[in-house]
Amino acid sequence: MSWIRYRHISRLLIVTSTGFVLGLAALVAARPKTFGKYGHYRGAALEELRAREPRYAGKADCVGCHSDMGDQLAKNRHQNLSCEVCHGPMAVHSGDAKKENASVPKDDRFCLHCHEKSAARPAFMPQIVLADHGGEKCRDCHAPHAPKS
Ligand code: HEC
Ligand code: HEC
Ligand code: HEC
Ligand code: HEC
Repeated sequence: MSWIRYRHISRLLIVTSTGFVLGLAALVAARPKTFGKYGHYRGAALEELRAREPRYAGKADCVGCHSDMGDQLAKNRHQNLSCEVCHGPMAVHSGDAKKENASVPKDDRFCLHCHEKSAARPAFMPQIVLADHGGEKCRDCHAPHAPKS
Protein backbone atom coordinates (compact mmCIF):
# COMPACT_ATOMS: atom_id res chain seq x y z
CA MET A 1 0.00 0.00 0.00
CA SER A 2 1.56 3.25 -1.13
CA TRP A 3 -0.34 5.36 1.48
CA ILE A 4 1.29 3.39 4.37
CA ARG A 5 4.70 4.11 2.90
CA TYR A 6 4.09 7.92 3.02
CA ARG A 7 2.35 8.01 6.41
CA HIS A 8 5.31 9.66 8.19
CA ILE A 9 5.30 12.46 5.63
CA SER A 10 1.59 13.16 5.97
CA ARG A 11 2.03 13.47 9.76
CA LEU A 12 4.78 15.98 9.20
CA LEU A 13 2.54 17.93 6.83
CA ILE A 14 -0.29 18.00 9.37
CA VAL A 15 1.99 19.28 12.12
CA THR A 16 3.63 21.99 9.99
CA SER A 17 0.38 23.18 8.42
CA THR A 18 -1.30 23.38 11.84
CA GLY A 19 1.65 25.44 13.04
CA PHE A 20 1.36 27.67 9.99
CA VAL A 21 -2.38 28.26 10.50
CA LEU A 22 -1.92 28.98 14.23
CA GLY A 23 0.94 31.37 13.44
CA LEU A 24 -1.17 33.18 10.85
CA ALA A 25 -4.05 33.49 13.32
CA ALA A 26 -1.71 34.91 15.97
CA LEU A 27 -0.30 37.39 13.43
CA VAL A 28 -3.76 38.63 12.47
CA ALA A 29 -4.91 38.82 16.11
CA ALA A 30 -1.82 40.68 17.37
CA ARG A 31 -1.41 43.14 14.47
CA PRO A 32 -2.29 46.73 15.52
CA LYS A 33 -5.37 48.07 13.71
CA THR A 34 -3.52 50.90 12.00
CA PHE A 35 -0.69 48.73 10.69
CA GLY A 36 -0.20 49.38 6.99
CA LYS A 37 -2.18 52.63 6.92
CA TYR A 38 0.81 54.58 5.57
CA GLY A 39 3.30 51.80 4.90
CA HIS A 40 5.00 49.00 6.68
CA TYR A 41 4.47 50.30 10.23
CA ARG A 42 1.87 51.28 12.81
CA GLY A 43 -0.07 54.29 11.44
CA ALA A 44 -1.17 55.42 14.91
CA ALA A 45 2.50 55.95 15.87
CA LEU A 46 2.46 59.25 13.93
CA GLU A 47 -0.55 60.60 15.86
CA GLU A 48 0.97 59.46 19.15
CA LEU A 49 4.22 61.26 18.41
CA ARG A 50 2.37 64.38 17.29
CA ALA A 51 0.40 64.43 20.55
CA ARG A 52 3.55 64.59 22.68
CA GLU A 53 4.39 67.96 24.23
CA PRO A 54 7.75 69.34 23.03
CA ARG A 55 10.23 69.60 25.92
CA TYR A 56 12.78 71.88 24.28
CA ALA A 57 11.92 75.40 23.08
CA GLY A 58 15.03 76.09 20.99
CA LYS A 59 17.55 78.90 21.16
CA ALA A 60 15.59 81.31 18.95
CA ASP A 61 12.78 81.39 21.54
CA CYS A 62 15.15 82.05 24.45
CA VAL A 63 17.04 84.80 22.65
CA GLY A 64 13.76 86.45 21.69
CA CYS A 65 13.22 87.40 25.35
CA HIS A 66 16.74 87.16 26.78
CA SER A 67 18.54 89.12 24.05
CA ASP A 68 21.20 90.25 26.55
CA MET A 69 22.21 86.62 27.17
CA GLY A 70 22.05 85.86 23.46
CA ASP A 71 24.36 88.80 22.65
CA GLN A 72 26.80 87.82 25.37
CA LEU A 73 26.93 84.21 24.24
CA ALA A 74 27.36 85.19 20.58
CA LYS A 75 30.61 87.02 21.40
CA ASN A 76 32.58 84.06 22.76
CA ARG A 77 33.46 80.45 22.16
CA HIS A 78 30.23 79.14 23.70
CA GLN A 79 28.42 80.82 20.79
CA ASN A 80 27.38 77.57 19.13
CA LEU A 81 25.86 76.04 22.25
CA SER A 82 22.12 75.98 22.62
CA CYS A 83 20.82 77.50 25.86
CA GLU A 84 19.05 74.32 26.86
CA VAL A 85 22.14 72.12 26.58
CA CYS A 86 23.16 73.73 29.90
CA HIS A 87 19.83 74.86 31.32
CA GLY A 88 17.89 71.73 30.46
CA PRO A 89 14.58 71.46 28.59
CA MET A 90 12.55 74.63 29.08
CA ALA A 91 9.57 74.55 26.74
CA VAL A 92 7.29 75.07 29.74
CA HIS A 93 9.14 78.24 30.78
CA SER A 94 9.17 79.48 27.20
CA GLY A 95 5.40 79.15 26.93
CA ASP A 96 4.76 80.56 30.42
CA ALA A 97 7.68 82.86 31.21
CA LYS A 98 7.81 82.66 34.96
CA LYS A 99 10.96 82.52 37.02
CA GLU A 100 9.67 79.38 38.79
CA ASN A 101 9.59 77.52 35.47
CA ALA A 102 13.18 78.35 34.64
CA SER A 103 16.07 76.19 35.70
CA VAL A 104 19.65 77.21 36.37
CA PRO A 105 22.33 74.52 36.77
CA LYS A 106 23.11 74.22 40.49
CA ASP A 107 26.64 72.88 40.54
CA ASP A 108 29.31 72.79 37.86
CA ARG A 109 29.60 69.06 37.23
CA PHE A 110 27.82 69.58 33.90
CA CYS A 111 30.79 71.56 32.52
CA LEU A 112 32.87 68.41 32.78
CA HIS A 113 30.46 66.46 30.57
CA CYS A 114 31.94 68.52 27.73
CA HIS A 115 35.37 69.55 29.04
CA GLU A 116 36.90 66.66 30.95
CA LYS A 117 39.94 65.26 29.14
CA SER A 118 38.92 62.26 27.08
CA ALA A 119 40.62 60.51 24.19
CA ALA A 120 37.20 60.19 22.58
CA ARG A 121 36.71 63.97 22.32
CA PRO A 122 37.60 65.87 19.15
CA ALA A 123 40.78 67.94 19.52
CA PHE A 124 39.03 71.29 18.89
CA MET A 125 37.26 70.89 22.23
CA PRO A 126 39.19 72.61 25.04
CA GLN A 127 39.79 69.87 27.63
CA ILE A 128 41.07 69.90 31.18
CA VAL A 129 42.32 67.34 33.65
CA LEU A 130 40.32 68.26 36.73
CA ALA A 131 43.06 67.22 39.19
CA ASP A 132 45.52 69.66 37.55
CA HIS A 133 43.00 72.48 37.13
CA GLY A 134 41.49 75.14 39.39
CA GLY A 135 38.91 72.99 41.19
CA GLU A 136 35.32 71.93 40.80
CA LYS A 137 33.78 75.38 41.17
CA CYS A 138 34.26 76.41 37.56
CA ARG A 139 32.11 79.51 38.04
CA ASP A 140 34.64 81.00 40.47
CA CYS A 141 36.85 81.64 37.45
CA HIS A 142 34.71 81.15 34.31
CA ALA A 143 31.38 82.85 33.55
CA PRO A 144 29.16 80.28 31.81
CA HIS A 145 27.99 82.76 29.16
CA ALA A 146 31.52 84.10 28.58
CA PRO A 147 33.85 81.34 29.67
CA LYS A 148 37.29 82.83 29.00
CA SER A 149 38.56 83.33 32.52
C1 HEC B 1 8.42 85.00 26.57
C2 HEC B 1 9.70 85.43 27.08
C3 HEC B 1 10.68 84.38 27.57
C4 HEC B 1 11.15 83.29 26.88
C5 HEC B 1 10.73 82.78 25.50
C6 HEC B 1 12.15 82.69 27.72
N1 HEC B 1 12.27 83.38 28.89
FE1 HEC B 1 13.52 82.96 30.44
N2 HEC B 1 12.62 84.38 31.58
C7 HEC B 1 11.67 85.26 31.13
C8 HEC B 1 11.20 86.06 32.27
C9 HEC B 1 10.17 87.18 32.20
C10 HEC B 1 11.91 85.58 33.40
C11 HEC B 1 11.77 86.05 34.84
C12 HEC B 1 12.71 87.13 35.16
C13 HEC B 1 12.59 87.49 36.62
O1 HEC B 1 11.54 87.31 37.20
O2 HEC B 1 13.58 87.98 37.13
C14 HEC B 1 12.80 84.53 32.93
C15 HEC B 1 13.69 83.86 33.73
C16 HEC B 1 14.64 82.96 33.25
C17 HEC B 1 15.69 82.35 34.03
C18 HEC B 1 15.84 82.45 35.53
C19 HEC B 1 16.53 83.67 35.97
C20 HEC B 1 16.78 83.61 37.45
O3 HEC B 1 17.29 84.60 37.92
O4 HEC B 1 16.47 82.60 38.09
C21 HEC B 1 16.44 81.57 33.19
C22 HEC B 1 17.63 80.72 33.54
C23 HEC B 1 15.83 81.68 31.89
N3 HEC B 1 14.76 82.53 31.95
C24 HEC B 1 16.29 81.02 30.77
C25 HEC B 1 15.57 80.88 29.60
C26 HEC B 1 15.89 79.96 28.54
C27 HEC B 1 17.08 79.03 28.52
C28 HEC B 1 14.93 80.10 27.60
C29 HEC B 1 14.76 79.31 26.30
C30 HEC B 1 14.42 77.91 26.47
C31 HEC B 1 14.01 81.13 28.06
N4 HEC B 1 14.43 81.58 29.28
C32 HEC B 1 12.91 81.57 27.35
C33 HEC B 1 11.21 85.37 29.84
C34 HEC B 1 11.39 84.43 28.84
C1 HEC C 1 27.58 76.79 29.07
C2 HEC C 1 26.31 76.62 29.71
C3 HEC C 1 25.24 77.68 29.48
C4 HEC C 1 24.75 78.14 28.29
C5 HEC C 1 25.13 77.71 26.89
C6 HEC C 1 23.74 79.11 28.62
N1 HEC C 1 23.65 79.27 29.98
FE1 HEC C 1 22.48 80.58 30.97
N2 HEC C 1 23.36 80.09 32.73
C7 HEC C 1 24.26 79.05 32.89
C8 HEC C 1 24.64 79.00 34.30
C9 HEC C 1 25.61 78.00 34.91
C10 HEC C 1 23.95 80.03 34.96
C11 HEC C 1 24.06 80.45 36.41
C12 HEC C 1 24.91 81.69 36.45
C13 HEC C 1 25.65 81.93 37.70
O1 HEC C 1 25.51 81.17 38.65
O2 HEC C 1 26.43 82.91 37.71
C14 HEC C 1 23.14 80.69 33.94
C15 HEC C 1 22.29 81.77 34.18
C16 HEC C 1 21.35 82.26 33.29
C17 HEC C 1 20.30 83.22 33.58
C18 HEC C 1 19.95 83.87 34.90
C19 HEC C 1 21.01 84.40 35.74
C20 HEC C 1 21.64 85.65 35.25
O3 HEC C 1 22.88 85.65 35.11
O4 HEC C 1 20.93 86.65 35.08
C21 HEC C 1 19.61 83.41 32.42
C22 HEC C 1 18.41 84.33 32.22
C23 HEC C 1 20.22 82.58 31.40
N3 HEC C 1 21.27 81.90 31.96
C24 HEC C 1 19.78 82.50 30.09
C25 HEC C 1 20.47 81.85 29.09
C26 HEC C 1 20.13 81.96 27.69
C27 HEC C 1 18.96 82.74 27.14
C28 HEC C 1 21.03 81.22 27.00
C29 HEC C 1 21.14 81.01 25.50
C30 HEC C 1 21.26 82.24 24.70
C31 HEC C 1 21.94 80.64 27.98
N4 HEC C 1 21.56 81.07 29.22
C32 HEC C 1 22.99 79.79 27.67
C33 HEC C 1 24.75 78.23 31.90
C34 HEC C 1 24.55 78.41 30.55
C1 HEC D 1 27.56 71.15 25.63
C2 HEC D 1 28.98 71.23 25.80
C3 HEC D 1 29.57 72.31 26.69
C4 HEC D 1 29.25 72.60 27.99
C5 HEC D 1 28.15 71.98 28.85
C6 HEC D 1 30.19 73.60 28.42
N1 HEC D 1 31.03 73.92 27.39
FE1 HEC D 1 32.64 75.16 27.50
N2 HEC D 1 32.96 74.92 25.50
C7 HEC D 1 32.24 74.10 24.68
C8 HEC D 1 32.67 74.30 23.31
C9 HEC D 1 32.08 73.58 22.10
C10 HEC D 1 33.71 75.27 23.35
C11 HEC D 1 34.46 75.92 22.22
C12 HEC D 1 35.09 75.01 21.24
C13 HEC D 1 35.40 75.80 19.99
O1 HEC D 1 36.05 76.82 20.07
O2 HEC D 1 34.94 75.38 18.94
C14 HEC D 1 33.88 75.62 24.75
C15 HEC D 1 34.86 76.50 25.23
C16 HEC D 1 35.10 76.72 26.58
C17 HEC D 1 36.25 77.45 27.11
C18 HEC D 1 37.36 78.11 26.33
C19 HEC D 1 37.05 79.57 26.22
C20 HEC D 1 38.04 80.36 25.44
O3 HEC D 1 37.65 81.46 24.99
O4 HEC D 1 39.16 79.92 25.25
C21 HEC D 1 36.13 77.43 28.48
C22 HEC D 1 37.06 78.07 29.49
C23 HEC D 1 34.90 76.72 28.79
N3 HEC D 1 34.30 76.30 27.62
C24 HEC D 1 34.41 76.54 30.06
C25 HEC D 1 33.18 75.97 30.37
C26 HEC D 1 32.57 75.98 31.69
C27 HEC D 1 33.18 76.60 32.91
C28 HEC D 1 31.37 75.32 31.57
C29 HEC D 1 30.31 75.11 32.63
C30 HEC D 1 29.78 76.33 33.24
C31 HEC D 1 31.25 74.88 30.19
N4 HEC D 1 32.35 75.32 29.49
C32 HEC D 1 30.21 74.12 29.69
C33 HEC D 1 31.26 73.22 25.06
C34 HEC D 1 30.67 73.17 26.32
C1 HEC E 1 40.92 78.91 40.02
C2 HEC E 1 40.38 79.32 38.76
C3 HEC E 1 39.83 78.25 37.84
C4 HEC E 1 38.89 77.31 38.13
C5 HEC E 1 38.18 77.05 39.46
C6 HEC E 1 38.61 76.62 36.89
N1 HEC E 1 39.39 77.13 35.87
FE1 HEC E 1 39.36 76.58 33.94
N2 HEC E 1 40.88 77.86 33.51
C7 HEC E 1 41.41 78.75 34.40
C8 HEC E 1 42.44 79.53 33.70
C9 HEC E 1 43.29 80.64 34.33
C10 HEC E 1 42.49 79.05 32.37
C11 HEC E 1 43.38 79.53 31.23
C12 HEC E 1 42.83 80.80 30.64
C13 HEC E 1 41.59 80.57 29.80
O1 HEC E 1 41.68 79.93 28.75
O2 HEC E 1 40.51 81.01 30.20
C14 HEC E 1 41.49 78.01 32.28
C15 HEC E 1 41.21 77.31 31.12
C16 HEC E 1 40.15 76.43 30.99
C17 HEC E 1 39.76 75.81 29.75
C18 HEC E 1 40.43 75.97 28.41
C19 HEC E 1 41.51 74.95 28.26
C20 HEC E 1 42.18 75.01 26.92
O3 HEC E 1 42.95 74.11 26.65
O4 HEC E 1 41.93 75.96 26.14
C21 HEC E 1 38.68 75.02 30.01
C22 HEC E 1 37.89 74.15 29.04
C23 HEC E 1 38.39 75.16 31.42
N3 HEC E 1 39.30 76.04 31.98
C24 HEC E 1 37.33 74.54 32.04
C25 HEC E 1 37.13 74.57 33.41
C26 HEC E 1 36.13 73.77 34.07
C27 HEC E 1 35.18 72.81 33.40
C28 HEC E 1 36.23 74.05 35.41
C29 HEC E 1 35.44 73.41 36.55
C30 HEC E 1 35.57 71.98 36.65
C31 HEC E 1 37.29 75.03 35.57
N4 HEC E 1 37.81 75.33 34.33
C32 HEC E 1 37.69 75.60 36.77
C33 HEC E 1 41.06 78.91 35.72
C34 HEC E 1 40.17 78.13 36.42
